[in-house]
Amino acid sequence: MAEFTLPAHSKFTAGHSYKASEGASDVRVFQIYRWSPDDDENPRLDSFEVDLDDCGPMVLDALIKIKSEQDSTLTFRRSCREGICGSCSMNIDGTNTLACLKSIKDVEGDVKIFPLPHMPVVKDLVPDLSNAYRQLAAIEPWLKADEDAPEGEERRQSPEQREQLDGLWECVLCFSCSTACPSYWWNSEEYLGPAVLLQAYRWVADSRDDKTDERLDALDDSFALYRCHTIMNCAKTCPKGLNPGKAIASIKSEIASR
Ligand code: SF4
Ligand code: FES
Repeated sequence: MAEFTLPAHSKFTAGHSYKASEGASDVRVFQIYRWSPDDDENPRLDSFEVDLDDCGPMVLDALIKIKSEQDSTLTFRRSCREGICGSCSMNIDGTNTLACLKSIKDVEGDVKIFPLPHMPVVKDLVPDLSNAYRQLAAIEPWLKADEDAPEGEERRQSPEQREQLDGLWECVLCFSCSTACPSYWWNSEEYLGPAVLLQAYRWVADSRDDKTDERLDALDDSFALYRCHTIMNCAKTCPKGLNPGKAIASIKSEIASR
């Protein structure tokens, strides 16, 4: 029988342990994936004890506290801490989400934190999103109108036209959905993935955009679009409560009804 095993360098080992400060009363352990390109070491899982009585309520608060007080080399992305910039996406307690929107109290036991899955890692919790951003650029995510807006005025939409963008404009491009999608794991070079396809539909659905046909032509590809097999991990994991699978189905339907 064939036996499969992970390459040696992809297995993580037990790492360092850091104690909470003396007198800490409400201690939780955060197990955090660590890997640096600067040495030849395997990834490791470091354990940090954090006093929740002296920490904000979100997982991002704990990461910032750990970096400030226990290990300044811990590396992660973050900016707004409001679920708006999309930069703090990571895998927490087995689910891709935004660290600033994930309450520590919603995790039972040790809080396990890994980078977004199936992406190359730059360092620790920072994934390399170059391919995802290349794919985003490819769908040309900006308004393409044949004519300039009337002098001194905005381009108008009816309330019904504006409503078509609900469930799309809220996307913060965290890529939690794409990195939870098995089709994207296996075909990420060619399949655009749920995050980018939701963005693509955001422009297809915009009444002010004049290049709908051109956009649908570009999307009508067996790999770029039709690798979606409606597994729906995307909708399950989206920390903003969006449904990229539905946006993908809408693109397919637009193409079919032309
Ligand atoms: S659809 Fe949701 S999970 Fe996907 S990139 Fe947008 S906000 Fe993130
Ligand atoms: S820090 Fe901006 S979304 Fe979390």
